[in-house]
Amino acid sequence: MPAQRSHTTRKTLSAVDFLVIGSGVAGLRAAIGLSRAGRVMILTKGITAEGSSIYAQGGVAVAPEEEDIALHREDTIRAGKGLCREETVQVLVAEGPARIQELIDWGARFDREGTGYAFAREAAHSRDRIMRAGGDATGTEIVRVLLKRARGLRRIVWNDHHFTIDLLLDRNGRCAGALVLDEASGALSPVPAKAVVLATGGAGQIYSRTTNPPSATGDGIAMGYRAGALVEDMEFVQFHPTALYMPATPQFLLSEAMRGEGAILRNVKGEAFMKRYHELAEVAPRDIVSRAIWNEMQLTGARHVYLDVTHLGADFIKARFPTIYATCLRYDVDITEELIPVCPGAHYMMGGVWTDVHGATSVPGLFAAGEVACTGVHGANRLASNSLLEGLVFAARVVDAAVESAAKVPKDRSYAEQLVVANGHGSPKGSSPDMEKILNSFRRLMWENVGIIRSGEGLRTAISRVAEWDAQVKNWCRTRREWEIWNMITAGRLIAVAALHRTHSVGAHFRSDDTGERPVEWEQHIQLEAVAGEGGIEPGRRILKT
Ligand code: FAD
Ligand code: SIN
Repeated sequence: MPAQRSHTTRKTLSAVDFLVIGSGVAGLRAAIGLSRAGRVMILTKGITAEGSSIYAQGGVAVAPEEEDIALHREDTIRAGKGLCREETVQVLVAEGPARIQELIDWGARFDREGTGYAFAREAAHSRDRIMRAGGDATGTEIVRVLLKRARGLRRIVWNDHHFTIDLLLDRNGRCAGALVLDEASGALSPVPAKAVVLATGGAGQIYSRTTNPPSATGDGIAMGYRAGALVEDMEFVQFHPTALYMPATPQFLLSEAMRGEGAILRNVKGEAFMKRYHELAEVAPRDIVSRAIWNEMQLTGARHVYLDVTHLGADFIKARFPTIYATCLRYDVDITEELIPVCPGAHYMMGGVWTDVHGATSVPGLFAAGEVACTGVHGANRLASNSLLEGLVFAARVVDAAVESAAKVPKDRSYAEQLVVANGHGSPKGSSPDMEKILNSFRRLMWENVGIIRSGEGLRTAISRVAEWDAQVKNWCRTRREWEIWNMITAGRLIAVAALHRTHSVGAHFRSDDTGERPVEWEQHIQLEAVAGEGGIEPGRRILKT
């Protein structure tokens, strides 16, 4: 257990039965279910809809017919390279169709073809099973429907612009709520709750190149870790091959569906290169395409390659990829006529806060769903479009487990007396650090040493530099931005430590110094847990678990 220490706060927000941290697909779906059993508060940093979910383009993978369920399972396990938890994969593929039907019943408008729904194919899927909405605006449509549904439920209380700093534990080590920063006033408040669901999304902002929105700062992983929760599979970060590369322009995803429709990758000399790397060329697995692009960039000395869709025809492009077309045009690239400069970017965290098949973490009273969670569904590499489905399926599952857990909390528990901040936030020493400068150096280091291609030497360098930055920033967090920076550093440190432990390449984790030998435990998962040290949280302890 981490060191604990009391913390003075200004006011206590009213206690709720269930606290949901985050309002992407996972948080909204969990809140909708939990509202049947009690009062729910949704906490969101910034505005409600902001998060990765609304940017999801390609679609949501779901077996269109009963006989595809087994194949969807096989494809998921094959992509995960032997490190998926087969029980959770079975849950994902078997319960997925009901979750999508539920969205349709609630008003989701998925794209149609002829008399039925349109199903597309993406890399490493053996069947057409990707449902989409608005061409390339699937996430926006799913969030629209969930938000509408949740807004109609009177037992849900909304708190936008409330940044969760840390989880609160009671004296028995049970999660008892969260400590929250009101972004407008700067006031700190504990929010007591009988059960807490972490649905804080991913951590792509840890890297200088990413497809993720600014909110993806790994807060849930960091606060879960500080509260003593096990984190797992942190070495597995998925890098998407194609993010828009234009200096001074926000990084923007160019969906894999474009390659599925025939887009070609070209190096800066104009050469199509993917056939040299894999027989499936542009639709090879994502990690292979990302490494191929990385290699071409090294060979040509360029900072990007190009994605070419000009041969697909302007009418088709505008109808199939309306958001991508309009966004690129805004950045002065007419994709119907010009090559699109692209570079890989950190896209998805396969690892996160460990959960069982019901979404329970290793801390009683704490649950996790969506990208922050590590259910074991993705193993070493996520199959495209499986994450929206995972968020929906496991957030729905969390409901029963959280309700059962909340029922065990004594009715007379006095929150005010028992709230204990999980982490001892020490007093600042010396002069205040230049947080933004540290963040910039940190994100570059993560990209170069803990990115697409890793080595023992690079990882060791990264771990020691990140530990220094950690020590510099940890006691200086007062604003949301400062907390986010510390959280990114914490999550980055966990990725680097796990990546160093895994000495061989598998899935999205590629070691240039892989000797080809397979350690006995190669099929096991790396779990990390905070240990109490004199100065607070120390680097993670490694527990190998099958
Ligand atoms: P998010 O949607 O990211 O929501 C996280 C929420 O937590 C936000 O509301 C955020 O404000 C809140 N939050 C975070 N920290 C705190 C804090 N400290 N305090 C309070 N609130 C906090 N997956 C697919 O399956 N198909 C796709 O086509 C697809 N396309 C993608 C395209 C892009 C550009 C990106 C970035 C991802 C894509 N993914 C796709 C992945 C998928 O979108 C995400 O994995 C998924 O939406 C994550 O949902 P979530 O609910 O876990 O998190
Ligand atoms: C994409 O559209 O390329 C992203 C799909 C995904 O991340 O699953």
